[in-house]
Amino acid sequence: MTLLPKPSPLTSQVGPISMTGNTKPFVVLGVSAGIAAYKAVEICRRLVDAGVHVAPVLTERAVHFVGATTFNALGSEPVQTSLWNEASPIPHTRLGQLADVVVVAPATVDLLARYANGLADDLLTTTLLATAATVVVCPAMHTEMWDHPAVQQNLATLRSRGVVIIPPEDGRLAGGDVGSGRLADPAAIVDAVLGLLDSRTPLDLAGVRVVVSAGGTREPIDPVRVLTNRSSGKQGHAIAEAAARRGAEVELVTTTDRPVTHGVTVHRVETAADMEAAMLDRGAGADVVVMAAAVADFRPKGVSPSKLHKSDGIPELILEPTPDILAELGRRRTSDQILVGFAAETDEVTERATAKLVGKGVDLMVANDVSAAGVGFDHDTNAVTVLGADGCTTEVSLTSKMRVADAVLDRVVALLSAR
Ligand code: CTP
Repeated sequence: MTLLPKPSPLTSQVGPISMTGNTKPFVVLGVSAGIAAYKAVEICRRLVDAGVHVAPVLTERAVHFVGATTFNALGSEPVQTSLWNEASPIPHTRLGQLADVVVVAPATVDLLARYANGLADDLLTTTLLATAATVVVCPAMHTEMWDHPAVQQNLATLRSRGVVIIPPEDGRLAGGDVGSGRLADPAAIVDAVLGLLDSRTPLDLAGVRVVVSAGGTREPIDPVRVLTNRSSGKQGHAIAEAAARRGAEVELVTTTDRPVTHGVTVHRVETAADMEAAMLDRGAGADVVVMAAAVADFRPKGVSPSKLHKSDGIPELILEPTPDILAELGRRRTSDQILVGFAAETDEVTERATAKLVGKGVDLMVANDVSAAGVGFDHDTNAVTVLGADGCTTEVSLTSKMRVADAVLDRVVALLSAR
């Protein structure tokens, strides 16, 4: 692992080697005052295990949720909470200059608001404003707060400034409520930070135009009901984000409203027909097209214009096939475009995926066995086999969807450089 190039002349002059006496990448781990603060302990430990120098910075209120002693034992240097430290009179500039990445997990509503508005009234916010390093924020809060326009506006502001947002997940929240707002999986946060630190990150897809589809399509039955599937869109979004991180110009055609990191242009769609129109339009002339979406194979024939009522009896659903978008992309492709498909299977995985690889005219087919534990729909992890029309096969054992995305993109880069 090597360090990211520092984005400003100041930070490139004052690198971790000269100021810490080691060559480890330097991560400031900011912890703000949310119930998920205990999960930052796991993030700290995993980063240290991965060979990262971790400087924990807790807000004064975060200490109510998790003790400094724990981070003192696990981090690479003592916890800091205050600007008023006699041994180091300007701790925020030291931390800001040394950092290769600053990651804030959990990031509370209050922390996001202060950071987005440029307020700097404690060590963590002054460090955030004093750094030119990549900043990653991992929000965690109750669903109502996550949905509040003030929070979303602050996130949009941060995103527009290049801050990487790792959105929260759906799940059980403090107090037993269920909804979106739970801190992203610590393993996924660590992977994202390691991905940013990794030497591969710059910039092997620079100048490459990539179009990715993600999510399950929704086919209307009537104005209130749809036919859909279990796809979360996480794998397609991870591919789009990984491609953007590696320098590509990325467009993402998605059915989900998942937040997307800076640098990805998003087209939101609903049905297979919408997705077909967007993919054929955006895919024409793209260097790489990735169909990670779970497109419905059938849709109701003739959508009822008004709500169907029980009192009208059980409706008879007549289905018709949807367009096969990937096959159409395969027919329209030029020889220098790389086309990637996905095959989610439960049995005869390799055979079925190979048949789709050939039948749809693609270069790479990413096959996964969605009946295996931790694989496929709605998980943060995946395990895949990347089959190539050139006969090469890559096995990716169970890991985060971001690492799977990078493995797929490694194959794409190899194909691009062979053309
Ligand atoms: N796909 C598509 N349009 C469809 C169906 C699938 O573009 N109407 C794409 C998917 O995005 C994926 C690939 O084709 O990249 C394989 O999808 P999959 O659902 O595994 O296979 P199907 O072709 O639908 O075949 P089957 O349902 O028989 O497995």
